[in-house]
Amino acid sequence: MYSEKFQKSLAAVEAARENNIALEPQRMTAQQKEELLATFHPDYKKDEFAVLKIGANKGDKVPTELAEMLQAHSRISADSVDLSNPDYETDVLIIGGGGAGASAAIEANEAGADVMIVTKLRIGDANTMMAEGGIQAADKPNDSPAIHFVDAFGGGHFAAKKELLSKLVCDAPEAIQWLSNLGVEFDKDEDGTMVTTHGGGTSRKRMHAAKDYSGAEIMRTLRDEVLNRQIPVVDFTAAIELILDENGNAAGAVLMNMETKELLVAKAKTVIIATGGAGRMHYQGFPTSNHYGATADGLVLGYRVGAKLLYAETLQYHPTGVAYPEQIFGALVTEKVRSLGAKLVNVNGEVFMHPLETRDVAAASIIRECSERATGVDTGDGQGVWLDTPMIEKIGGEGTIMKRIPAMWRMFDKYGIDIRKEPILVYPTLHYQNGGLDITADCMTTNVENLFVAGEAVGGIHGKNRLMGNSLLDIIVFGRSAGINAAAKAKTVNVGELTLKHIEKFENEIAEAGIATDKISPKLLPDYTNKR
Ligand code: FUM
Repeated sequence: MYSEKFQKSLAAVEAARENNIALEPQRMTAQQKEELLATFHPDYKKDEFAVLKIGANKGDKVPTELAEMLQAHSRISADSVDLSNPDYETDVLIIGGGGAGASAAIEANEAGADVMIVTKLRIGDANTMMAEGGIQAADKPNDSPAIHFVDAFGGGHFAAKKELLSKLVCDAPEAIQWLSNLGVEFDKDEDGTMVTTHGGGTSRKRMHAAKDYSGAEIMRTLRDEVLNRQIPVVDFTAAIELILDENGNAAGAVLMNMETKELLVAKAKTVIIATGGAGRMHYQGFPTSNHYGATADGLVLGYRVGAKLLYAETLQYHPTGVAYPEQIFGALVTEKVRSLGAKLVNVNGEVFMHPLETRDVAAASIIRECSERATGVDTGDGQGVWLDTPMIEKIGGEGTIMKRIPAMWRMFDKYGIDIRKEPILVYPTLHYQNGGLDITADCMTTNVENLFVAGEAVGGIHGKNRLMGNSLLDIIVFGRSAGINAAAKAKTVNVGELTLKHIEKFENEIAEAGIATDKISPKLLPDYTNKR
């Protein structure tokens, strides 16, 4: 139920609906996209980035808020922790309890390794749990991994590391099979065929989903499997510093109990960073669709021991975050809403873009509508555009919304908005960290031995923009692979004497570079004190 101030615009949207359904909006040309992105996409705003003065990416620009964390002081000093008597010893230490960490743990356990998960919240408190629209895999007769590769490579501005993207798409059908075998209930037709849809930038329908709570269904299954296998999970315990051995190889982590602040030492033959994304860094003041713990911790941990970052300057702003009502500001409105036929329209009810452009292009189009073109809708709290959800029922038939996207219906129904009858207001929200730690195809970092990475903390799989559904896919493909490879590597490792000398070295670099900072990192949790 919208108040009086929205009624004129709502009437325009309603009046234009039938015509808009029939309308086939043009796709933008490559040049139009480039110009649009350069002017309106947040990644192109020069003032919002800082050049790193120290570390493996010295000279590279990253978001200012990330630079502050990457060049901050450690939470501990090199000599403040006794490493001689570890609290935990394991073959494979996994930092992070989301989809990537859980997949890694299952495979490492399957390979016979001793494995443990540490997570600063609880297992499953992760972006995986919040993923809605689905997971891509080219497993239909009209599709192939090669076509999937072409879609994702183009969507990512031809910047993906080819060996990583190739692994992603080639291992995708098996990933779906693995999840199905574990118990994930994907949507199926009556004859058992998987239901698949388009996402932005896909040339084939290859999005597999569990309605619009695909991530929750996948995480539920992975968590059960971890618990059934009795893999140790140390929750409410953050990794605050990696430990190296005397040879400079990753060999564990210093942990901090989130409640008592007690410090603990975990020694390991191999370490997997699976800490997820960075939405709670709120780059450029954007709201986020991410879970409470998404604060780029893995990038900080890795960077401090010398690991390289790739594309850390590129973020994904999901085009359709909630713009109204304010109680759910920034929450995700799945792209599947547009896959099912809803179009984006401005204050006058005009369609202003093809609904399934890639996300960076779609986000920039919405920002242009709400700025230069002044055809956004004033929400009272900012701007937004309409996503005309009633189109879905007209195109797919009555009941489509409840059948395919019931969580979306529920989210708005709580605030008196029935998305079957009324459109919703959306604006871009910080959604995904395209960049992260640089790895080889076996998931080990390019320059720190025995340090593996999986999931959103990896950079380079998707290039500079990710397609919908390739994130749930990458946490499975690279999570599993990291688990298998870290377990295999652990068999060959003799851990040398543990050390935290890298902290001293990093402090010296901070001082020599003249960086005056009182920040400490990793951030661990967002700080909302005195903020809206
Ligand atoms: O729109 C969505 O459902 C998000 C999916 C994704 O980020 O892959």
